Amino acid sequence: MIPLFRPSLGEEELNSIKKTFESGWVGLGPRTKEFEDAFARYIGTKHAVGVASATDGLHIILKSFGVEGSEVLTPSLTFISTNHAILYNNAKPVFVDVEEDTLCVDVGDLNEKVTSKTKAIIPVHYGGHPVDMNAINEIAEDHNLVVIEDAAHAVGAEYNGKKTGTLGDAGSFSFQAIKNMTTGEGGMLTFDDDALDQRLRALRWVGINKDTVSRAMSQGKETRYSWEYDVVELGYKCHMSDIQAAIGLIQLKKLDNHLNAGRTRVAEAYNKAFRDVEWISIPVEKPGVKRVYWNYALKVENGKRDEFGEYLREHGISYGVHYLPNHLHPFYQELINNGTIKEPHVPVTMEVWKKILCLPIYADLKAEEVNYIIETVKRFEG
Ligand SMILES: Cc1ncc(COP(=O)(O)O)c(C=O)c1O
Repeated sequence: MIPLFRPSLGEEELNSIKKTFESGWVGLGPRTKEFEDAFARYIGTKHAVGVASATDGLHIILKSFGVEGSEVLTPSLTFISTNHAILYNNAKPVFVDVEEDTLCVDVGDLNEKVTSKTKAIIPVHYGGHPVDMNAINEIAEDHNLVVIEDAAHAVGAEYNGKKTGTLGDAGSFSFQAIKNMTTGEGGMLTFDDDALDQRLRALRWVGINKDTVSRAMSQGKETRYSWEYDVVELGYKCHMSDIQAAIGLIQLKKLDNHLNAGRTRVAEAYNKAFRDVEWISIPVEKPGVKRVYWNYALKVENGKRDEFGEYLREHGISYGVHYLPNHLHPFYQELINNGTIKEPHVPVTMEVWKKILCLPIYADLKAEEVNYIIETVKRFEG
């Protein structure tokens, strides 16, 4: 069976972990700082804060912007974490429709859904395609809203020459096992604001104002550990570890030239092969955008998506559907039924998700496997 995704991890990552083991410091420590600094440089923000997952990252960044009790504009066509993070903060997700082609939020619909209670927008760069951020930022400015980019799929993508994660008030990245770059599990928040940096470092570390590494390093040249710290708020335990960072440092080096380039190579082969297949719509890349491919989400236009998926499985090819609109999950249905959140009006989302089918894509997918997938897809009686 050809898997849908597969991480690209090897000797270099193992050697990097070995170095961390030998250092005696495996928790939140100097390598996390090194990875944060390297990631901030790569993305182009002043700060980057490593977290245990992007779910945690979204949780604490929303907390730091004080969204409690407010409405947050968000797509329903996303991984559930985007919307859980809003609920963790006792705020309400207000679901915005998506564009049929990019599967990113529809800015016109978003504009119409702003109310006096709206405090934030979470644009999701679906599949690695950047959202139209100029339009989002204009709306945010008009209504004094915070913009948090959910860039879980979009590490390395660009919008008007700037990397995703630099385009709003903050960006959130995921290094979960099947993302473009991985640390096993992990995530990173990116932003420029100094005060936010302090706050997030406390929020990810049970509210402690000085983490262990800065307490060890603040003693000058000699590494003398200071036990003193203050707990300044009710923080969480969701920091990154040096083992994750050891992997991340290597993955970041491989990101452009192998991890993203490899996925793009696969996507371009699929695009070329399926461009003229009548019953398939291929993913798009809008002008002004350099997309990356986290997934390869084609649209099956003949109503036979599930039949096609079954056929692929029978031929040893895994597939995915990203995503069931979040508000259709039983837990969210319950929230709608009991009046906690509003029943969304998202007609494009409700139609388009039934067409989405994601094909295998990862940097190390072999050319012969790509060819086999292409030939198999083309043989389906569409
Ligand atoms: C769009 C989106 N947001 C957030 C997340 C959460 O990331 P993590 O698994 O690192 O918590 C994911 C994926 O897992 C995602 O796809």
